[in-house]
Amino acid sequence: MQCRISEPDLFPGGPLRRLGGAVRIFAELDSTNSYMLAHAAELVDGTIVLADFQTAGRGRRGRRWHSPRGASVLLSVLLKEPASSPWLEHATLAAALAACEAVEHASTCRPALRWPNDLMLSGKKLGGVLVESTPLTRTPDEPAQRAIVIGVGINCLQQRGHWETAIADTATSLEIESASAVDRTAVARGVLERLDAHLAGTGEGEAEWPGILAAWKSRCEDLGARVTLRHDRRAWTGTMLDISDAGDLLVQLDHGPRRYFAAATTTRVR
Ligand code: BTN
Repeated sequence: MQCRISEPDLFPGGPLRRLGGAVRIFAELDSTNSYMLAHAAELVDGTIVLADFQTAGRGRRGRRWHSPRGASVLLSVLLKEPASSPWLEHATLAAALAACEAVEHASTCRPALRWPNDLMLSGKKLGGVLVESTPLTRTPDEPAQRAIVIGVGINCLQQRGHWETAIADTATSLEIESASAVDRTAVARGVLERLDAHLAGTGEGEAEWPGILAAWKSRCEDLGARVTLRHDRRAWTGTMLDISDAGDLLVQLDHGPRRYFAAATTTRVR
């Protein structure tokens, strides 16, 4: 597997706008998201954490996120935002778009996006986004803030035999899919640069949002497809109709009306 990603290689063009005020790169960590959540209070806004290997990498719906040592881009970024920040709702789609753009730039691959957080190639999962948040303790006089942790995992160098049987038919990597050699650092750099550009559009995250949403939708191939979602501790099945201006998924339910589902509070079962 490739050698460790180094900080100078991540920012050859100088500092980014919002991300990268602090960068921590680990050979091994339980999970970059867990680390960021645990240390959010003392870390600065825009902190980036990368790991070559996670012993307890996490995906959505409480799933484990496995990757061989040095094979994937595994990173998290920290946003410190007002408690009512729109990025709580928008971060998943913005990060999935950034990951997609990074892959497009660093390889011959053109991933499709699957609402809300999956990067897909050849119908298999290439990567995903896990956004988590926690309140930050402040003095009574200070406005309420939240730490938003955006975790991104992209399979880069895995070969076919790397996956356990359970996910061998549903996971893929750039090594398998790309016609050109894959540079894991270039993929990581691309994710950070594109996410930084999306986040730094405005202080409030609103003006940049319509562009992010339009770019996200242009890469989404499964509108019109059947979907089963988990929301409010229930399963909801229907046909995906559209993504709203807020980034919510509009579904025609099999047994009920049309209904919107928010990316932050809904997970996709199928
Ligand atoms: C998913 O598709 O279920 C989301 C996967 C997110 C995985 C990344 S890897 C870096 C960060 N740290 C984690 O523990 N998870 C995310």
